[in-house]
Amino acid sequence: MCGILGCFGSENPYSLIRSSLQRLEYRGYDSCGVAISDRDKIHSYKVSGPVSGLIQRAEISGAISGLGHTRWATVGTPSAENAHPFMDCNADIAIVHNGDLDNFIELRESLLLRGHHFSSDTDSEVFAHLIEESESNLEPIQRVNSILSKVTGSYALGVLFRSSGVIVGARHESPLVIGTNSSGGFLCSDVHAIAPYVDHVIHLEDGDLALLDTTGVSLFHGDKPVTRTSHPVSWDPAEVDKAGFDHYFLKEVFEQPKIIRNSLEGRVRLTNPTIDLANELPNMPITGKIGVFGCGSAFNAGLLGATIVSELIDQEVGAHVSSNYNRRLLTKDLALAVFLSQSGETADTLATLKVAKSAGIKTIAITNVPNSSITRLAEFTLLNKAGLEESVGASKTFTSQVIDFVLLCLWLNQTDISSLNDTIVDMHNLSNHLDHILDTYQSMEDIALTISNASSIFIIGKNLSYPIALEASLKFKELAYIHAEAIMSGEIKHGTFALLTSETPVIAIAKSGDQYKDVVQTVREIKARNAPVIVITDQADAFLNVADAVVTVESSLPIGFSLEASMIFQLLAYRAAIAKGCPIDRPRNLAKSVTVK
Ligand code: AGP
Repeated sequence: MCGILGCFGSENPYSLIRSSLQRLEYRGYDSCGVAISDRDKIHSYKVSGPVSGLIQRAEISGAISGLGHTRWATVGTPSAENAHPFMDCNADIAIVHNGDLDNFIELRESLLLRGHHFSSDTDSEVFAHLIEESESNLEPIQRVNSILSKVTGSYALGVLFRSSGVIVGARHESPLVIGTNSSGGFLCSDVHAIAPYVDHVIHLEDGDLALLDTTGVSLFHGDKPVTRTSHPVSWDPAEVDKAGFDHYFLKEVFEQPKIIRNSLEGRVRLTNPTIDLANELPNMPITGKIGVFGCGSAFNAGLLGATIVSELIDQEVGAHVSSNYNRRLLTKDLALAVFLSQSGETADTLATLKVAKSAGIKTIAITNVPNSSITRLAEFTLLNKAGLEESVGASKTFTSQVIDFVLLCLWLNQTDISSLNDTIVDMHNLSNHLDHILDTYQSMEDIALTISNASSIFIIGKNLSYPIALEASLKFKELAYIHAEAIMSGEIKHGTFALLTSETPVIAIAKSGDQYKDVVQTVREIKARNAPVIVITDQADAFLNVADAVVTVESSLPIGFSLEASMIFQLLAYRAAIAKGCPIDRPRNLAKSVTVK
């Protein structure tokens, strides 16, 4: 992953880069660094850990340009030595890189044989030494372009030349945007980090290079000048404000009732119930099997959405993990492939999308980020209405992905819609039910404390409740650092019972309906083995004298039940994480946007 940044023409490049890097930290935060050129020298600042560890101010007279980087380690441990930027042997060139190089071992070995000195264990450093070897009488853009054919893999690259201070950017399979304002140019892994400083942005294509110098910004594709569309940037400081909450995660959990209302507005009509996405997805009548793909929470949202859809209508939907798909099944009989990604940049999801496209399957991206890579690759895009999500742990985007995917499938299957009045009412009631949970969640504090004291918990659910359990377990792991395992409730007796003790709480998700009795039975069996049991259910009576605690949800319908239960888990994970003193918004070893495979 990693985030890269470059700026030319700013009066105080160090301060600007440092503050922008903080907005890039969602891409990684195990180490970071800044390099500034005053044309005499490249001044380098690196630390292990987040950007807050970098010195606040660096007074460098004559500084005109610089690079910044925030890292999520792939090759080489997290440390100050492995933090970018890296320099060549003469300290004339500095580079920052986001991506993965496949052939860096061969390149590094041959560079070492030719006498180069490496200061890190990373793959990225080879860029600095390769550019060092390029013909020094060439223009900077030509020097960078001349070495790109030697590397294989993915890169968003920023290169700073000491003597001129100019910056060159290059992109291949990792995102890179160019920003402009009246005094200079920027390059960055995303728009968000530079939005306060620029008027317009340009999204580079694979094979593009950009030159940032005293004349402004010039773009190239290989060695040929090229023009790309420039988009105006709007910047809303409220989006990055915590709005009085201690953490972005909690703020984003609380935004969910509003996001559900936004997701339904203009798409779903309550009187004379209808769903209509034609404005956003014109000309796409599809019939046939649907596949939904995603990683992490996006996969969980896809699996939950697919399960809800199969309970509501007669539509074949399969959910698949993007990083683990079966190419033969994917290309065999799918009519439509739907790709869920909050960031729109997840490498595994983009790779699967390319496979689907090349097999001639219709593709739709459901994403939260306009102009992200996924929107440019997929044939159609349905934008989430969640707004910027800052916390690494997904909450509101999980909810909006479920809603958007279910709406898409119901809309495509218009014939059944008349029988779905209850579902549409359920969706409309959901935001009020979530508001109610938010008003009363402090009453769950004892449950959160029980969980926070455990080193391992199990979450059981059947059918619809299983994807809820999967997402819940991810929340406990990433927020509260608790080992949490989702198990299909019928499976727990086939082995996992061996792990049950009075120290291993089990949370059972029990939805009324066909298999409710089975879950009641499983809960009795778990209690007989002395494990504490917490039940989340819409029908509490059967558990009142059995479970240690019961939390009730209002809706008994698939969408309402699932998303109410999911929000209860988000709040429990948050409170357990607070009790343990975890960092909440930036869990260790993670990043918000996973742009490597
Ligand atoms: C969820 O809390 C995680 N942050 C993670 O699993 C995330 O959902 C996954 O990395 C996919 O990201 P995407 O939605 O940006 O593709």
